[in-house]
Amino acid sequence: MNRQVSRLTIDVDELRAMLEEHQSVTVLDIRKTEDRAEWSIPGSMHVDAYEALKAGDPDALAATAIPMDAPVVTICGAGKVSFTAMEQLRARGYDARSLTGGMKAWSLAWNSAEVTLPGSAATVIQVRRTGKGCLSYLIGDGGQAAVIDAALDPAVYRRLAAERGWLITQVLDTHVHADHLSRSRLLAQRTGATLHVPEQDRVSYSFDPIHDGDTFSIGSSQITALHTPGHTLESTSYLLDGKALFTGDTLFLTGVGRPDLEASPEQARARARLLHASLARLTALPPEAVILPGHTSEPAPFDDHPISATIAGVISRVGMLRLSEEAFLDAILARIPPTPPNHARIVALNEAGEMPDGDPTDLEAGANRCAVS
Ligand SMILES: [Fe+2]
Repeated sequence: MNRQVSRLTIDVDELRAMLEEHQSVTVLDIRKTEDRAEWSIPGSMHVDAYEALKAGDPDALAATAIPMDAPVVTICGAGKVSFTAMEQLRARGYDARSLTGGMKAWSLAWNSAEVTLPGSAATVIQVRRTGKGCLSYLIGDGGQAAVIDAALDPAVYRRLAAERGWLITQVLDTHVHADHLSRSRLLAQRTGATLHVPEQDRVSYSFDPIHDGDTFSIGSSQITALHTPGHTLESTSYLLDGKALFTGDTLFLTGVGRPDLEASPEQARARARLLHASLARLTALPPEAVILPGHTSEPAPFDDHPISATIAGVISRVGMLRLSEEAFLDAILARIPPTPPNHARIVALNEAGEMPDGDPTDLEAGANRCAVS
C-alpha cells in the first residue's frame, strides 16, 4: 500500500487502540441493516448506505448528521465500499479513514477487563475477542499465569501477562471448539507452558489430559477441573479458588451450550441429557460464585467491565436451568440455532491442532452461535 492510500485507511490494531484509549472517534458502519444485525463494533453509528454507495450515488451520506469535530472511521464488510464512503466524507471536509479489511478483519479485535474476586489472591483478566464474541481468560498469581480458551494470537496473552510480571505456565482448553480456531496449542508452544486439554480421543497432538477433580496451582491459587459433558462429551469447566467458574460453552449468562454440533439427532438428545446433569452440578455451587463464560452474544464494549454474573443471577435469568430433565430436553432441542459456518473444517483443524495457511478470519467469519437461549 502506498503512502497516500495508507493515510486514507486505518487498520484493526490502530482502531482498536483508539477505542481502548477512549479517543474521540466516530465509527460509521455503512453496511446493510441485516448485516449489522449479525455483529457490529461497540458504540458505532449506523447508516444503511451500502447499496447507494455501491451504485455510485454521490449523496449517499449527505442526509446523515455525522459530527464534524472528531475523526470518522468508515466500516463495511471487507473494506471496499467503506473506502468510497471515506472519499465522499473527505470531499465534504471530514477527517475520514476507511477500516482496512472491514468487519472480516475486525474479527480479531479484542479488549480486556479485570475481574474482581474477593477471597482469591488471583487476578483474572477477561480477554474479549470483541470482533467475534469469544471470551478467554488470563489468571495470574505469584508471578505465574494460566490462560483458558486462547482465541487470539499468542502475542496478546504474552503482552498482557508481561505487563503484570507474569509468566504463562499453564494453558487450558475447556473443550474442542467448533466456532473458532483454538490458539492454545500455539500459545503453549510459544511460551513453553504445559498444554492441558480434557481427556478425549479426538485430538491428534500431544497434551496433558485433564480429568474430573484434577487441580492446578497458579501461585497460591488453585484451579479445579469439573467434567461437565453436554455441549461436547469432553467439555470441562474450571473452578478457581471456589470463587470463579470458567464454564466454556456449557453455561452462558443468558443461555446454555448447544448439544448438537458433530452429533446425530439421537446423539444430540443424549448430550442434552448429559448437559442437564452438568448444569445441575454447576448451579449447585455457591450462589455467589462468579460465572465467566466462553462466549458472549453481544460485542464486548471497550468499557473495562467484565462480562460475568453470579450463579444465583444466572439461575434467575436463564429459565432453562429451572426445568425438569424432560422439559429441558424438549426446550433445548426445539431452540437449536443455525449451525456456525465452517464448523466441520474448524473442528478438523482444532482436532489436528493446526492453524490454516493464510488468514484465519476467512474460516472464522460470522458471529458465534454456541448458545441456546
Ligand atoms: Fe464450543
